[in-house]
Amino acid sequence: MTIVIAIDGPSGSGKSTVARAVAAELGRPVLDTGAMYRAVTLAVLETGAALDDAAACAAIARASDITVENGVTMLDGRDVSSEIRGPLVTGAVSIVSAHPEVREILVARQRAWVARHGGGVVEGRDIGTVVFPDATVKAFLVASDDERARRRHRDEMAAARAVAVEDVKAALDRRDAIDTGRAVSPLRPADDAIVIDTTKLDVDSVVADVVSRARSAEAR
Ligand code: DC
Repeated sequence: MTIVIAIDGPSGSGKSTVARAVAAELGRPVLDTGAMYRAVTLAVLETGAALDDAAACAAIARASDITVENGVTMLDGRDVSSEIRGPLVTGAVSIVSAHPEVREILVARQRAWVARHGGGVVEGRDIGTVVFPDATVKAFLVASDDERARRRHRDEMAAARAVAVEDVKAALDRRDAIDTGRAVSPLRPADDAIVIDTTKLDVDSVVADVVSRARSAEAR
């Protein structure tokens, strides 16, 4: 049986941390689909195409060789792992990822990645709803707006990007509004997802919950 664990949720909900830890615990690979959308956005910015030009963004996505493995994102043979976390990409990625034409290309690559790896942990926004509606376990993580802003602010400071927490919060709100309000694959929990509020929970207990659900599904 191919095990697919879908971990969705907004920015700062703890998705990446939980996805990586669940994958390590289960000895399975992990795919950060947000890194794929970020890599396409970087390529769009570098070519100077308009962010709202869906056809141009899709052509760039199609022509870009993107790999995301073990936390390293490569774009056309270049390691862009840090660059895709910078403010330019972060400010533009919601616009580029809202184009259905771009999503179609990346969703096909995400499914191919899972087929190639024989399953795995996949992290994103629409994994349980669109990419893998039959996933073995679907977790949708949420956290309060203040806590999410605090976590993202901590990430920014750790990456030596000095920003005010209010600015991080305003940017998060903007991105959430676009991700949740877009016509295609909006950010929302699948009907059969378990919704976990990570505001006050420690990472270990969230990971243990997802891992135990995956193990019992595997045993069935
Ligand atoms: O998880 P992240 O913050 O790195 O994601 C970056 C952006 O990519 C986010 O604003 C929405 C988009 N995204 C998406 O639309 N679908 C996914 N499966 C993953 C990310």
